[in-house]
Amino acid sequence: MFRAARPFIFRLDAERAHWLTVHALANAPWAAGWAADPVDDPVTLMGLRFRNRVGLAAGMDKDGIALEGWQRLGFGFAEIGTVTPRAQPGNPKPRIFRDVGSEAIINRLGFNNGGVDACVQRVARHRAKGMLVGINIGRNKDTSPEQAVDDYRYGFEAVYPVADYITINISSPNTPGLRDLQAEAALDGLLGALADTRARLADAKSVHRPVLLKIAPDLDDAGIRSAAAIALKHGIDGFIATNTTIARPPGLSAKVSGEAGGLSGPPLAEKARHVLRTLRAECGTSVPLIGVGGIDSPEAAKARIADGADLLQLYTGLVYHGPGLVSRLARAVSTS
Ligand code: FNR
Repeated sequence: MFRAARPFIFRLDAERAHWLTVHALANAPWAAGWAADPVDDPVTLMGLRFRNRVGLAAGMDKDGIALEGWQRLGFGFAEIGTVTPRAQPGNPKPRIFRDVGSEAIINRLGFNNGGVDACVQRVARHRAKGMLVGINIGRNKDTSPEQAVDDYRYGFEAVYPVADYITINISSPNTPGLRDLQAEAALDGLLGALADTRARLADAKSVHRPVLLKIAPDLDDAGIRSAAAIALKHGIDGFIATNTTIARPPGLSAKVSGEAGGLSGPPLAEKARHVLRTLRAECGTSVPLIGVGGIDSPEAAKARIADGADLLQLYTGLVYHGPGLVSRLARAVSTS
């Protein structure tokens, strides 16, 4: 079914196709049922029970409008966001580009989103329905780097009551200066501040929320290790490896590879796997890791688990292979 529809979908501009898909799922979530054969392979991690190991990666549903749809597609969990304190339009269009030959995407959306508070209200309404939802937070484009910590603190406090886990995103390439937060002193400052906020909220609300750090594939090994050490020192529970890359590996079409932005899909896979393996070696076996980046087949999913991932996420694979991929992957890495 998806194979038949794909040429028509791909005739649309990439952002238009994305908009239509997410709004269709939001307005008719029950229709997603035809595509799904949901896999029940419960995994308990960070005190949370995931229905299976395959989750939706951040960015597909930034505002959390289609939570029921993702659930019906068979995802074990969904990460929404990135959301910022204030709504913002993102970068000028066009800003999403498909490279069909390599099944990759380059995007420079720039955190277009409706603001964290609206997102929180939506998630609150959905909570009773049982889908596990992580919320990924970032900073506004027009917030100065000196004020970045305030944006993360605002987002953290806003999502804390409703998010099953919280992801700190310091790795998107499309907000100028954001990835500078991965440098030692900046990361130490940010995560130290959030640790204080977290302790206060845990006390006040009598609930502990797992917190994950999402990192870039463009860090060198020393950068990965130092980010991991600083994060663990501040009580971060686990890592998401990785965000999109600013690199342009060979194999991309000349037309698309010249576009600015973050690259996702199979050409990202090797870098994402390297970061994941480095984190696993650095953190030992007990720290939860989510593998993401170019996972598009059962073999790729199994390899990512062998690299050390506890859970997987996907975005670009869904665009090129359709919703049936979710359960194919969940079945491939099922323990039962
Ligand atoms: C993303 N990704 C992303 N990540 C994030 O933390 N916050 C975000 O807002 C977005 N937005 C976004 C938009 C688009 C169009 C794409 C393609 C990707 C990155 C995404 O979550 C994931 O880390 C990468 O895309 C790598 O996984 P895939 O796509 O290769 O499976």
